[in-house]
Parts: sequence; structure tokens; C-alpha cells
Amino acid sequence: MEKTGQRLKLLKEKYAELTIISSTLSVLNWDEQVMMPHKSASYRAKMIGYLSGLIHRKILELNEKNLLESLNALLDKFNADDQANIKECNRLYQRTKNVPQELVEKISEITSEAHMVWMKAREENDYSLFEPILERIVDLKIEEANYIGYKKSPYDAMLDDFERDITSDELTVIFNKLKDFLIPFLAKIKNSQVKINRLEGNFSISKQQLFNRMLAEKIGFDFKAGRLDSSAHPFTDGFNPKDVRITTRYDRNDLFQSVMSTIHETGHALYEQGLPEKFYGTPRGEAVSFGIHESQSLMWEKRIGRSLPFWQHFYPILQKNFPKALQDISPEEFYNKVNIVEPSLIRTDADEVTYCLHIILRFELEKDLIEQKIRVCDLPRLWNEKFEKYLGIMVPNDTQGVLQDIHWSSGGFGYFPSYALGNLYSAQISNSLRKDISNIDDLIKSGNLAPILGWLKENIFQYGKLYTPKVLLKKVTGSELDPGFFFDYLTEKYSAIYKLNA
Ligand code: CO
Repeated sequence: MEKTGQRLKLLKEKYAELTIISSTLSVLNWDEQVMMPHKSASYRAKMIGYLSGLIHRKILELNEKNLLESLNALLDKFNADDQANIKECNRLYQRTKNVPQELVEKISEITSEAHMVWMKAREENDYSLFEPILERIVDLKIEEANYIGYKKSPYDAMLDDFERDITSDELTVIFNKLKDFLIPFLAKIKNSQVKINRLEGNFSISKQQLFNRMLAEKIGFDFKAGRLDSSAHPFTDGFNPKDVRITTRYDRNDLFQSVMSTIHETGHALYEQGLPEKFYGTPRGEAVSFGIHESQSLMWEKRIGRSLPFWQHFYPILQKNFPKALQDISPEEFYNKVNIVEPSLIRTDADEVTYCLHIILRFELEKDLIEQKIRVCDLPRLWNEKFEKYLGIMVPNDTQGVLQDIHWSSGGFGYFPSYALGNLYSAQISNSLRKDISNIDDLIKSGNLAPILGWLKENIFQYGKLYTPKVLLKKVTGSELDPGFFFDYLTEKYSAIYKLNA
């Protein structure tokens, strides 16, 4: 056993190196998006490309001298934490071992170039600029999936990078249920007599900044272990539990833009700040998956941050900051404005009801693309057709259609579904949270959010990667993934707002 103990120690040392390189990459990424002068882009791409290649080599080293294989053979000799560590190292290694280093570098190079091409195509509303490079990315990603291996579809190999153990077949079943519910539900809302107007006004950015900072702190963000900055696209990067960076974006005429993004990213950040420090540097100390991560941001942004009790507490403070724009709006009216349902072209502006339809459309297209059932040149036409079918609006141009997201230019196929999964997970987890903390609305209304954070720490954060997403969900909620929780949540909330039963 002593020898085995030595081997485990060696594996952990190797993984700790990986953690250091990944955190360094995160710092570079944060700096690029928040601080870096634009002209430095190609230099930064080289730094990032080099470190990505280094990560690839370090993953292969996890099995140096059959280290992983020998530990795997003795898996049941270890405690649950180390079993999870060994399994996750093995998973990473298996995903990586057959992929040639040259292919990894090629993908990194092309996607870095594609980012610029995509931005130009989007700016000029010209899909034909983006099409050739996207074709190359799709080919390379399929080649990569073939090296990684899969049971049924190359798309499954990509999905697995974001959400372990879920297949495209399972997703198709879940997403079809979602469509069957959401499309008629949206029609009901459209036919409602209740019409809600958008919030209008001029909201000073410096005042928005102060309010957002207060909000993040009240929700539980530790500013001694993190920062809040602004960037073109809001994001969260956790370098370690004691340094978690979040960003938001500001628009003078759209208060919700920065406020909702801040709540969303704070939700991600609380997860990162709440990961168990004693396991830092091992998989056990990391967030479990993209889908669960998204569930934590949506828990705060949607389930709590778009609830009436939340704004009963925070609205009076907001009103004091913006007396002119908000003087004639009551907390209840404001709550309705936060929750307007209106099909729109841009995913990131979508409301709770239409959001998943944006995702399903992308999932269906990218899955067919990777399975080579459709071609890159078909995307704009199919996008527009599906968009009209699911959301009932015509897409006027590709900039507001197929060119709007960054994901495909970065080769991130399989990423989108985690956004929809996050919605389903968060509704299901929220149901359990509400059972455990029965006076939750009173607590929220009084601004006491600490018990919610405590519950999430205890039920989600502390486990890191100990369980797979499926096992964790079952453990926290007592049931398998069930979109019914999301449907119940939407029905109850929006029937009241839009008086659907009247
Ligand atoms: Co998110």
C-alpha cells in the first residue's frame, strides 16, 4: 500500500501542475478581456496557444510509467475523494491520449484566427466571410472527436467535455419535451390581455456600478477574494477560491443589462469561492460541470433575482439611486418589468420562457452539423427557418441571427446545451431549497440571503467533482433530471404575471 500511496502522491503532484497552468491561462484570459490593449491580440494568442499545448502534454504525463493504469486497477482501495480524483484524471487522460498534439495546436491556431474573422463577419453582416473558416473548424473538431472516441455520435464526444455522462439522445428527449411545453406556453402569454412596458430611463453608469457592487456583496460575494470589473461580454473566472473575477457590462439606457449580469456572474462566483479549499489543486476541489455551474448562476439570476421578494427588498434602494427614472414605478410594476416575456433575436437578451428555445435551436443545428447531416453553408437558412418556427419572428439579418454567438468560432460545439440544462437543474434544485428553507421568501424579502448561500455550500459547492452531475442532482433533489420542475415554476410564475387563468 505504501507504494500505492506514493503513486497517488505523484499523480496529485502532476495534477497540481495542471491546475497551476490552467489558473495561469485564466489570468491571461481575464486580462485579455478586461485590461489588454487591443493591438496585443496576436502576442496573447501565442501565449495562450503555448500554454494550451503544455496542458495537453501534462495530461499525457498523468499516465507516465502507467501511473494512472496502476492506480485505476486498485481504485477500491482508496477513499471516495481519491477515487473521484483518480477517475477524473483517468477521464481527462482517456479523452486526450489519442489526440495528436499537432491537431490541438491547429485547432487553437484556427480558432484564434476565427475569432477575428467572426467579429468582422458579424460587424459587416456577411456570413460568407465566416463560412470557410467555420468549415475548417467543423472538420477539425470532427477529426478530434474521432480521436477521442464515442459510442454513437461524434457530437457526444464534444458534449462530454461540458457535461459528463449525458448523450445527445438523452438531450433530444429532454429538449423535445421542452419544446412541447414552451411553444404553446409562449403562445398563451402572447395572447394575454396583460401588456407590460419596458423599463425606460437614463441610468448613470457610476451609480449602476455602486448598486451592483452592493448587490454582489449582499448576495455573498467576498470582495477580499475577488473583483468586479466590466467587459464586453460578462464572465466569471475563478483562479482559485481566494481570487474569483467577475465582470458585467453597462448600458446607460438599459439598467437590467448590468444588474442581471452582475447577479448571474455573482452566482457563478459564489460557487468558485465556495469550493472546498482543502482539495484545491485536485479534481475533487473543482466545480462539477458547466451545466451545474450554470444552474448556480441561474439560481441567483432567475429563481431569486427575478422574484418579487427580492425586489421588495432591493427596489427601494435602487429607487433612491435613480429617483427620477423610477419615482412612478412600484416594486410590483418593477417586478413585472424584470419579467417581461417577449421573443427576441438575441439569446443573451432572452427572457426565462424563450431562452431555452434559443438553445434548442443551436443544439439541433450543431448536432446535425457534426453528424454531417447538414453543411456549414446551410446554417443561415436553417437558423432562420427554425427561429421563425420556435420563436415566431423573422430574422432580419445574420448579425442578429446565426452570427450572434462566439461559441462556434472558438470550436465550442457541445457548450450550448449546458445553458438549458442549467435552467432545468436550477428549477429542480430550487424546489429542494424551498422545501428545506420553508420561510425562504420572508428571508429574501428582509434581505437575509445568507441561509440560501449556506444551503448551496452544503448541498452543492462542498462536493466539488466528488459526484457526476447526474449523481449530484439525484442526491440533492431525490430525483433524476425532470423538466417538470421547470414547467411548474414557469406556469406558476407567469400565470400570475400574465393572468393566464383569467
Ligand atoms: Co453563466
